[in-house]
Amino acid sequence: MTTMMLLLMLLVTSCTAIPQNLSEKMFTFPQETDTAHVRLTTSRQNLQAVTVCLRFFTDLKRNHALFSLSLPSFHNAFLFYNLASLDSFQMWVRNIFTSFEGLDLKLNKWQSVCATWDSTSGLAQLWVDGNPSSRKFTSSGSSINGPIIIALGQDQDSHGGRFDAKQSFIGMMSDLHMWDYTLSPCEIRKYAKDFCYAEGNVLNWNSLEFQIIGRVLIENKQNTCQ
Ligand SMILES: *[C@@H]1O[C@H](CO)[C@@H](O)[C@H](O)[C@H]1NC(C)=O
Repeated sequence: MTTMMLLLMLLVTSCTAIPQNLSEKMFTFPQETDTAHVRLTTSRQNLQAVTVCLRFFTDLKRNHALFSLSLPSFHNAFLFYNLASLDSFQMWVRNIFTSFEGLDLKLNKWQSVCATWDSTSGLAQLWVDGNPSSRKFTSSGSSINGPIIIALGQDQDSHGGRFDAKQSFIGMMSDLHMWDYTLSPCEIRKYAKDFCYAEGNVLNWNSLEFQIIGRVLIENKQNTCQ
């Protein structure tokens, strides 16, 4: 009975989340846990194409997830994952992954990453600070379809859970946007330069519905000088 009421309350709270404008803010993930994360939901249930862009700062030298989107049927429906080798990323689409090597990734520096994929060609591509990777095949023919749960700071090994502290993110993240189409190279470059880019139409950092679980802080970005 009490559990039911708690569940209902949780449902009500997550449904009534008011979008927040996080312009000039960042999420700080200050410690290694298997719980702390930001949970994002979207009413969108069918994506034929995806672009996700975000900025991040970290000193992690182990594997960690930067963006984890799961469906009940695919825990790694859209995931990008930074590898311990420090210059490579794995990108997962509908539980199939491809790797990108030799990327210009740095510790202790704000960097932007954008990941694109479309179901027609099945090609995935990763952009670090506006510079492209090779275009590689992951999964084609089917869209990302079903109730979507997105986690920042943890890698979902089940729909919305089964986190592993050794894959958690420690550092800061900002300017997360998600689109239901692939951004052109020019638009990605604008995002990387933080200049006049189109805001996400699936997730928009300036109007973001989210829920913080555990120790994740909303802080002012530190890169402005007044
Ligand atoms: C968010 O805040 C910024 C800075 O205050 C403002 O320029 C922008 O228009 C706001 N966006 C939305 C969607 O409210």
